[in-house]
Amino acid sequence: MLDEALSSRKSRHLNHFRSDGTDRGDPGFGGVTLRQSALSCVFPGEVDLSTEFLGARLSAPLFLAPITGGTPEGADFNRAAAQSAIRLRLPMATGSLRMFFEHPGTFETYNVNAHRELPLFFGNLGPAAALGLGPERVREACDRLHMDGLFLYFNHAQELAQPAREHEPFDPDLLPEFITRFGAPVIIKETGMGFSSSDIFTISKWPIAALDTSGAGGTNFYLVEQDESIDSQDETREIPLQMGIPTALVIHMASRHNIRIIGSGGVRTGLDMAKALCLGADLVSFAAPLVRAWHRDPADGIHAWITSRLNQLRSVMSLCGTPTIDALKRHPRTLDTRFTETI
Ligand SMILES: Cc1cc2nc3c(=O)[nH]c(=O)nc-3n(C[C@H](O)[C@H](O)[C@H](O)COP(=O)(O)O)c2cc1C
Repeated sequence: MLDEALSSRKSRHLNHFRSDGTDRGDPGFGGVTLRQSALSCVFPGEVDLSTEFLGARLSAPLFLAPITGGTPEGADFNRAAAQSAIRLRLPMATGSLRMFFEHPGTFETYNVNAHRELPLFFGNLGPAAALGLGPERVREACDRLHMDGLFLYFNHAQELAQPAREHEPFDPDLLPEFITRFGAPVIIKETGMGFSSSDIFTISKWPIAALDTSGAGGTNFYLVEQDESIDSQDETREIPLQMGIPTALVIHMASRHNIRIIGSGGVRTGLDMAKALCLGADLVSFAAPLVRAWHRDPADGIHAWITSRLNQLRSVMSLCGTPTIDALKRHPRTLDTRFTETI
């Protein structure tokens, strides 16, 4: 019998993103100014967005974020996302594999890389579930799904909003050994609250493939979860929404460490993408905009939306006079005072 509560929550997550207005806060890209060049001779058609990540050649510095799986709607979304990712030669991830471990019959809802056409395909689990299952079982599932690695997500704020306060305790100090024994790339991510400088310092010592910022300023899962579960009279409900570390600041803080960075959390335009890359991200990633685009047009929406953002990124790079991603990453930018302090 399928876990009805988990399954309906997964469906509600996708439905929450039918319309605009789900973002919360400010990802901080307004505090970054890129040096524009009046003398630029680079035209958008000459910009080369291709890049390399974990040994894979990608057409652009963009990861399709972990979102879903385990339900019929999740299967439809994953198929549509995979079709776009294959067409555009971009990496993608599924949402949490927890449903698969609890209900192996949901295998097909995650199985979108059977022909190994994606340049990179990652799974996703919370650390408590991953540690409970053990690295060997998780790796075996990833291998069956032709996955190249795993995103491990931290979601403390989201758990505060979940119905039965479902916080599953775990010891973060056990994660380095899990990652080593898993034996394939592991990316650590948040789910919309970001990481502090001391979190980043700790995680940078783990044998990770990358850190995905998932900072504040875009999707806030506390808000998504609290729709039904939190009493509207409860005065604590607003508090986590006023917290979180803005994405741009998390990227900036992470760039001081020798780790690969995926900039995510409220990245919405080609200009946001360029600023994230110039701050030190190796790739960027979107989640909510992909879900909205899929609701608008299940067949072609994701492809059209990503293409429009990549065209915006080409325009920005043309104005900066940076013909390649490497040139953009080295390009001068100024930061406002919010970047002078770390947190
Ligand atoms: C509908 C939806 C479902 C998500 N499910 C997951 C998940 O299962 N695992 C995960 O690590 N992150 C999940 N996320 C979080 C995203 O991967 C991402 O970190 C976050 O939404 C910030 O990006 P955004 O502002 O572009 O949406 C989900 C996001 C959305 C919109």
